Amino acid sequence: MAAEKQVDTKGLLGWVDQRFPLSSNWKAHLSEYYAPKNFNFWYFFGSLAMLVLVIQIVTGIFLTMHYKPDATKAFESVEYIMREVPWGWLIRYMHSTGASAFFIVVYLHMFKSLLYGSYRKPRELLWIFGCLIFLTLMAEAFFGYLLPWGQMSYWGAQVIVNLFQAIPIIGPDLSVWIRGDFVVGDATLNRFFSFHVIAIPLVLLGLVAAHILALHEVGSNNPDGVEIKEKKDAAGIPLDGIPFHPYYSVHDLFGVAIFLTIFSAVIFFAPEMGGYFLEFNNFIPADPLKTPLHIAPVWYFTPFYSILRATTEEFLYFGMLPFLLVFLALVLFTSRTMLTKSIALLVVAVMAIGFFVLDAKFWGVVAMGASTLIFFAMPWIDNSPVRSMRYRPGWHTGLLMAFAIVFLVLGYFGVQAPSPVANRLTQIGTLLYFAFFAFMPWWSRMGTFKPVPERITFAGH
Ligand code: HEM
Repeated sequence: MAAEKQVDTKGLLGWVDQRFPLSSNWKAHLSEYYAPKNFNFWYFFGSLAMLVLVIQIVTGIFLTMHYKPDATKAFESVEYIMREVPWGWLIRYMHSTGASAFFIVVYLHMFKSLLYGSYRKPRELLWIFGCLIFLTLMAEAFFGYLLPWGQMSYWGAQVIVNLFQAIPIIGPDLSVWIRGDFVVGDATLNRFFSFHVIAIPLVLLGLVAAHILALHEVGSNNPDGVEIKEKKDAAGIPLDGIPFHPYYSVHDLFGVAIFLTIFSAVIFFAPEMGGYFLEFNNFIPADPLKTPLHIAPVWYFTPFYSILRATTEEFLYFGMLPFLLVFLALVLFTSRTMLTKSIALLVVAVMAIGFFVLDAKFWGVVAMGASTLIFFAMPWIDNSPVRSMRYRPGWHTGLLMAFAIVFLVLGYFGVQAPSPVANRLTQIGTLLYFAFFAFMPWWSRMGTFKPVPERITFAGH
């Protein structure tokens, strides 16, 4: 194959190539990496996620030069960055807006995968690395939010770390161990700082490398969900593939230009985004003696936070329990293996007993955790005979859209103060959220599927 050709031994490049696989990697990952020719709008977000990652690391390095991880100085040092450090305000706003941009880009990137079945065989590991990136990104954002040491930083961390107390037996000790103190304090700030600036970014970079390597091993999926590697020419090049460089490198640059335009507009004209990107309460220094009236995490956590808040004792008995029983009945009636039936019976029985024995707060934490972990299961719960939504029954796309709306609604209520109506709506939303996944093994194979074309369909622009 082309990438195995003899390397040119002449000139500087030849000298480097004899000592380092520069040209061969350039070819394998860029100029001779063949990507499907029908990438669309949704395929911009992978490269944009890489761009935002770089922005966060670079701006983070400059912030760290002036920031002080000390409970008595942290808030002031951020104010110093904003007012005194030349261009400090820009670096800080790039970093804080970058955090929200990261989640917008990653959520859209994940949505693309759901739309085109990109998580399915043979891309399961690629998807798993993606899910791990998502969890790591949430940890990174959570640790970072404590650093400005404002009221929301402080009380947000207090609420989330306190959640660990709900774990039976080890909970109270565990939360003290995480904080390094009985309340969020200087010890907490120092450890969150070290996790935020070095430990988690290292993990994130490693996972992104694994994600891209896995992608290049199996090749990209595409809006038709057709495997381009199955139809190759005499030279072994996929008939529907085009070299990533220059075609998609230029295509992605266009996406970068649009993204940077919007990103700059936010940074220069609405960096706080009405309190959604930087909460107003966080411009008040942390005060351990004064709890803010309404504590809410930043918007990107709120769909999951809503699920936590929705889980009351009443909801467990009248919402979750009937839900689990319907799920169990479906497994018992439709599953062919005794093993599956027994596992489902055991899990539902243990959970049902647990609902009566353990605190609802504990189940809230379980539900919130499950709502983020459930994405890992996607490759194994989607039984549709085709990958892309394009060739599935129209109502499958309808269900995906409904899921996206439920996600947004949960997110919306998560930023609002609780009220009886909002609580009821988030409980319904929570059931719908889990129903999408729990019943997927059944609904994903129902309906009339359209014939999938042999080759990808593409009309040039
Ligand atoms: C730092 C965060 C991330 C970066 C830098 C990143 C990067 C990329 C890039 C460059 C691509 C190829 C271009 C594209 O398909 O858009 C890609 C594809 C993919 N990513 Fe990610 N990604 C990230 C997070 C995630 C997450 C959180 C998930 C899912 C949970 C995910 C799942 C996937 C899948 C399934 C594909 C293949 C898509 C296809 O071929 O249709 N990624 N990623």
